[in-house]
Amino acid sequence: MDQTIKFPVVNLSKLNGEERDQTMALINDACENWGFFEIVNHGLPHDLMDNVEKMTKEHYKKSMEQKFNDMLRSKGLEKLETEVEDVDWESTFYLRHLPQSNLYDIPDMSDEYRTAMKDFGKRLENLAEDLLDLLCENLGLEKGYLKKVFHGTKGPTFGTKVSNYPPCPGPEMIKGLRAHTDAGGIILLFQDDKVSGLQLLKDGDWIDVPPLNHSIVINLGDQLEVITNGKYKSVMHRVVTQKEGNRMSIASFYNPGSDAEISPASSLASKETEYPSFVFDDYMKLYAGVKFQPKEPRFEAMKNATAVTELNPAASVETF
Ligand code: OGA
Ligand code: NI
Repeated sequence: MDQTIKFPVVNLSKLNGEERDQTMALINDACENWGFFEIVNHGLPHDLMDNVEKMTKEHYKKSMEQKFNDMLRSKGLEKLETEVEDVDWESTFYLRHLPQSNLYDIPDMSDEYRTAMKDFGKRLENLAEDLLDLLCENLGLEKGYLKKVFHGTKGPTFGTKVSNYPPCPGPEMIKGLRAHTDAGGIILLFQDDKVSGLQLLKDGDWIDVPPLNHSIVINLGDQLEVITNGKYKSVMHRVVTQKEGNRMSIASFYNPGSDAEISPASSLASKETEYPSFVFDDYMKLYAGVKFQPKEPRFEAMKNATAVTELNPAASVETF
């Protein structure tokens, strides 16, 4: 089976025409059955995307590559004779946009790169909010519902993880990024249009998320699974390493604010609701220690403080 044919690709420009209903249905099906979809005609200027890609690759060569190679040496990873399960083959740095930007605190970024990332971040923030409203529409929630839940008292948390996955001599020995679900809300990923690597777990099989020029990959985090009471799913994904080519990926996480209260929406909840209610920051404290484990024990543990401490002793939750 050619799996790439089935991977949901949504042409957002069709939302303005007679194929609106089918397009909304495609998004809904992707949210229910894939936890992932890829969007095209999303309104981000292609020249901005090209520019961001070019500058990210230059920045890696100039400011990150040496550090990555030093890390390999210090961890004894140059040879890769046995399987490595506690390190990821990735080079990353983080930009925070909301609630406060740290863009001007990051060393080694050119003014041009900063300006492009600021513009890129703002546009992705707007796109994330538009997508949340499309989800609300599909879920029968009032417009703005998800944005409001994510707001807390300080507004959402929005940040960008800039990654490079350098070529790896032993792809079978180490992952670029180990399998996990994302903790937060909605994730917008601008990935390399040539070098693949991202895979999602569907019905027990790892399926490639195909590179597609100028597309943005969308996936849903654990919080949307909780708020939708499991109607939508956060899905396990990972990055595999490649022998050839350096894969760039720029993942932007639109998450609830730290004090946002998360619980299943009342219209989606049922008597036998299985999802917990909690403050987002408490979930993140738990997640920090168990990111590469399945989500179900996290949801379970959030129902009581003792279980949280058992799963991750470092995450003390005082609010229960
Ligand atoms: C992540 C992630 C995928 C990628 O950072 O959570 O899944 O392709 N990244 O970089
Ligand atoms: Ni992820």
